[in-house]
Amino acid sequence: MKDIQKEIEKLRKEIRLNNYRYYVLNEPSVSDYEYDQMLNKLIKLEKAHPEMITSDSPSQRVGGEPAREFPTVNHEVPMLSLGNTYSREELEDFEKRIKTLLPEADIQFVTELKFDGIAVSLIYHNGSLVQGATRGDGERGDDITPNIRTIRSIPLTLFQKKGLPTDIEVRGEVYMPKKEFNRLNREQEVKGDRIFANPRNATAGTLKLQDPKIVARRPLYFSAYFLRIIDNESALAGMRSTHLENLHLLRELGLPVSRQVALCRTMWDVLDFCSDWEEKREDLPYEIDGIVIKVNDLQQQAELGSTAKSPRWAIAYKFKAKQATTVLRAIHLQVGRTGTVTPVAVLEPVFLAGSTISRATLHNEYEIRRKDIREGDTVLIEKGGDVIPKVVKVILDKRPEKSKPFHMPDKCPVCSGPLIRTEGEAAVRCENIACPAQVHRRIEHFASRGAMDIEGLGDALILQLVENRLIADYGDLYRLKKEEIAELERMGQKSAQNLIEAIHESKRQALDRVIFALGIRYVGSTVAVVLADYFGSIDSLKNASQSELDTIDGVGPTIAESIVQFFGQKHNLEVIEKLKQAGVCMAEERRSRRGGIFDGKMFVLTGALDRMTRQAASELIESEGGKVTSSVSGNTDYVLVGQNPGSKYQKAQDLGVALIDEDTFISMLEKSKKKKFPRDSQLAIEI
Ligand code: IVH
Repeated sequence: MKDIQKEIEKLRKEIRLNNYRYYVLNEPSVSDYEYDQMLNKLIKLEKAHPEMITSDSPSQRVGGEPAREFPTVNHEVPMLSLGNTYSREELEDFEKRIKTLLPEADIQFVTELKFDGIAVSLIYHNGSLVQGATRGDGERGDDITPNIRTIRSIPLTLFQKKGLPTDIEVRGEVYMPKKEFNRLNREQEVKGDRIFANPRNATAGTLKLQDPKIVARRPLYFSAYFLRIIDNESALAGMRSTHLENLHLLRELGLPVSRQVALCRTMWDVLDFCSDWEEKREDLPYEIDGIVIKVNDLQQQAELGSTAKSPRWAIAYKFKAKQATTVLRAIHLQVGRTGTVTPVAVLEPVFLAGSTISRATLHNEYEIRRKDIREGDTVLIEKGGDVIPKVVKVILDKRPEKSKPFHMPDKCPVCSGPLIRTEGEAAVRCENIACPAQVHRRIEHFASRGAMDIEGLGDALILQLVENRLIADYGDLYRLKKEEIAELERMGQKSAQNLIEAIHESKRQALDRVIFALGIRYVGSTVAVVLADYFGSIDSLKNASQSELDTIDGVGPTIAESIVQFFGQKHNLEVIEKLKQAGVCMAEERRSRRGGIFDGKMFVLTGALDRMTRQAASELIESEGGKVTSSVSGNTDYVLVGQNPGSKYQKAQDLGVALIDEDTFISMLEKSKKKKFPRDSQLAIEI
């Protein structure tokens, strides 16, 4: 036993050291393969000896249980923001202000990259990471510790050496490198999930996820730029008198700190650093949006103090978005898979911020009218942090004569069907589901990897199938014959056979995949899983009312409305019927959990339960085939009432819904499960 413990300790130490070499020093000393081997060995040993698992083991980064809501934390020292400058003059003013406040002092500055990510605060106690929080409003942020723990460049334990502090607060930026961001977006697209506009949004979106397991799979990194020592402040005070020393100390403790830092003795040096990085920013593997300039001496920092919003000893020099002028050749209308029509600017190609740009987003018709953008105009375009550049304004001097203001056509550019404007929405939509643009894209989506995963059914082939009128919707795929396919261009007997087999195979895809594949607006792969779990079949989903859909966790009113609309269209029902006839999976027994005592029954919980948590009660209900929703309606079968019930209790009484208390509930379960439940609060685990 002792030997195993030793082996585990040794592996942990080695893995931590390698993490440090990789993330902090940027000098990996083992291959990825060797690293994975070490980690796997550790995980295996810990699995065999779970009593030896500690929360700071490098194996514990896979993500814990999902949270309902993040707890709030108070920042002991407020997390201030920085004043912004955009010009040399303003930077010189910053220096002048400091010199007026500290006329005698010799001021030196430290310049750092301004990472474009999300600021977080980390608390270490006795050398272990105990809390990770967002900035929030500066005074109070969200406690996102489980998510922070999954970020591999953040050490779970500090390096400990005599003289190093063990209780500290570290602040820094969580960010997503550009390459990883692009990869994530490609994956999101395949899955039909939301595309992020820039790495910063992707980082913010990821840190807000309630399920740390998903966070663990996202490529987040960290860079530290601030240290506060909580213990031994006086003993350690002598060691460090500058911000640069703090950065060194952070690195010694095992935290990643950017190497692109300079000590500047004059404002000239500061300005050089700024213009240098403004030039080179494209070459960095992550996004920066400026340079942060800080007074190096900590004593001087303290004397300068802060205003309510930002410190007087630091400032951000923000880069301007890169701009270029070019000619807007045409305004094209793009018809999306779900019929949304968006205008896009087709540009004379121009090189800007590291890439050639030939398209820019125009958002919607109002935006075009507001900026009075016309075909043939010379326009100023801008590439900010976002993937897609935007048109800033028209250079009116260069407007050709006889140019005409833009008007949104009232017909779809693809099928000539009417374009429909929904109240409160800027976008217009083509609602003709047979519109070839949509048919094509809908089928593409249906066959995509995250949906029915029909191998070999790519873009070009779908186009051929549609153009040759072999299919008009995805339901027709299952009626295709080998001979028809073999006759198409670049197809032969063998590839036709393979396609037929792939289509046949897809009938076995799980229900959530089928629901996702239907292409219902707003129903991505995650919502599809929720719907499949809840309804268990396409038929019950089809018959669900908007109010029932609305009560399901993870389904908001917009999604609910969209689902009802989808199943309300005759044409869509016909396509679904084709899928049914073909034998595509339309229901899953496993999901509907038939046969339990609460089979098909709808529950609502109110008040605190004595012998179990509400989560446990919900799991028990679901284990017996019931469903739990959040509000009482005519569809509710039972309301489980605990201590101090809320308004749901009254509503249930008004509607005449059956009320049961906890004891009754438990005895029903005991009867069904043919066993007694012990009198403790861990019922869900018991089962
Ligand atoms: S120092 C009191 N250093 O910029 C000073 N901030 O606009 C605290 N940021 O909220 C900030 N890189 O999210 C500092 N090297 C850096 C930074 C940095 C990025 C962000 C940070 C902060 C925001 C201020």
